Order: sequence, then structure tokens, then C-alpha cells
Amino acid sequence: MAVISPWTTTLMITIMMITTVMHVIDGSDNNPVYSPCADTKVERSDGFTFGIAFASKESFQRNGTVQLSPCDSRLSLSSNAQISVFRPKVDEISLLSVNSSSFNPDAYGFMVAFAGRKYAARSPPTFVANGTYTVTSFTLVLEFNKGRLQNLYWKKDGCSKCSGSSDFVCLNNQHCAFKTSSCKNHGGSVDCSLGIQLAFSGTDKHLSVLNSWYEVANLRQYSLYGLYSNLKDSLSSQYSKIF
Ligand SMILES: *[C@@H]1O[C@H](CO)[C@@H](O)[C@H](O)[C@H]1NC(C)=O
Ligand SMILES: *[C@@H]1O[C@H](CO)[C@@H](O)[C@H](O)[C@H]1NC(C)=O
Ligand SMILES: *[C@@H]1O[C@H](CO)[C@@H](O)[C@H](O)[C@H]1NC(C)=O
Repeated sequence: MAVISPWTTTLMITIMMITTVMHVIDGSDNNPVYSPCADTKVERSDGFTFGIAFASKESFQRNGTVQLSPCDSRLSLSSNAQISVFRPKVDEISLLSVNSSSFNPDAYGFMVAFAGRKYAARSPPTFVANGTYTVTSFTLVLEFNKGRLQNLYWKKDGCSKCSGSSDFVCLNNQHCAFKTSSCKNHGGSVDCSLGIQLAFSGTDKHLSVLNSWYEVANLRQYSLYGLYSNLKDSLSSQYSKIF
């Protein structure tokens, strides 16, 4: 996948995998923009490229306050950052996975989702992992207006799925987290690969309503795990032990 940006030379693109789980819409991808650092307008059935940067919380800020996009060269993400680039289909429920066998999230700490240049959007940094805790499950909402990305944010999943399980710790009443010491890449038994569910909201360039967001909201109460049961790997088996 082509990524046109200064940081490609210094940052590695991590292992990435896009698993489209449901709603395979027949239709072609007419979006010619493959860089996460360029602007585009999308319609349903297009692919949409965005990036996720992993780094310390401080490195996403300039002089402590200004929140710049990783695409902005004024934010010189240090060499201790990782960028993953994804291209899901607009308005499909997708699960992105970042495999932790080649990637230690606790070496970075936080992640930010970003796309665009003139119309840049970026999410707030969300905690992923430190030496004590690792959060593995996230929901990212991509909000469009007339096909233009307006907003990226992390949905707080809450702890209802993990309360009462001794494998999990509930962090700030917002995230179910594993103890980092129980992760495979730290000698434990749990595959702490990250799973990021995507939800699309708003309108595409023909003003069609994007509604995978409502499906995720409705399905959450039934546990999204069931949706992803075709992920035949340790990411899902880890959940099936618990739910
Ligand atoms: C950030 O801090 C540096 C060094 O203190 C300073 O030179 C620069 O002007 C500051 N930039 C902004 C946008 O405040
Ligand atoms: C790890 O993060 C948690 C939650 O943000 C925090 O309570 C804890 O103090 C952190 N531990 C370390 C070693 O930084
Ligand atoms: C991560 O990669 C390892 C080695 O390639 C594999 O055994 C494991 O199943 C993968 N985990 C996920 C969640 O894809």
C-alpha cells in the first residue's frame, strides 16, 4: 500500500490485516486516494485510507497542548513511533487487527487515528498499554459529512463485558484491560493483539446515510464477539474463553 509522506522513511508500517466481517457490498472502490495524508471524498463501497500512530501521549502534542495530526510535519513523531495504515470499505463493519507477535504496544503507550491534510481529522490519543495493563479491544468511529471525513473518535466500550472476570481489570470504568504480564509477548498465555472495530457515521458524497454505526451500537449489547467468530485465531479464542 502506498504511503506518501515524510515519515514513511523513518517509521515502519506494522503488520496489519483487515478482516471484513459482514455486509460485503458489491460495488467498486472508486476512491483514488491511497495516502492517509491526503484529502478525499468518499461514497459507500469506496475504500478509505487512514492511519493509526502508536507513540507516547506526549509525542502527539506540540509544546504540551497543540494536538497536531501525525501527517503534519510540525509534529515530528520521534523514531519511537509506529504507523499502521488501513483501508477498510466505507460503511462496512470491519475489525482491524494489529498482531502483537511483531509489535509490543506497551513500548508506545497510546494511539491516535488520523487522515487528511487540509481537512485533517485526528482522534484524541487513547491508552493502549503500559508495563502494567494492556487494552486490546477498541471501537473507532469515522464520521463523514457529504463524503468528507469530519471526525475520528474512540467509543468508550465500558466494562460490562469484563466485570466479574479475573482475567480482566476495568480501567477508569472505560476499558477492559489485561495485565501486561499475562500477554504472550511478556511470557503469559494471552494473545494481546489489538482488535479495532470500525463504525461509520454521517453521510457520503451522494448524501447517503452511513449507518454501520447504528449496527454496532445495537449489536454491542449482544457482544460483538459473535460477529467475529470467523476470525479463527487466538484473537477470538482468547475471547471465547471468557465470554
Ligand atoms: C514550541 O516551543 C519551542 C521551544 O520552546 C519554541 O521555539 C516554539 O516557538 C514553540 N512553538 C509554539 C507553536 O508555541
Ligand atoms: C499504566 O496505566 C494505568 C492506567 O492508565 C495507570 O494506572 C498505571 O499507573 C500505569 N502504570 C505504569 C507502570 O505506568
Ligand atoms: C499473530 O501472528 C502469529 C505468528 O504469525 C500467529 O501465530 C497468531 O495467530 C497471530 N495472531 C492474530 C490475532 O492474528
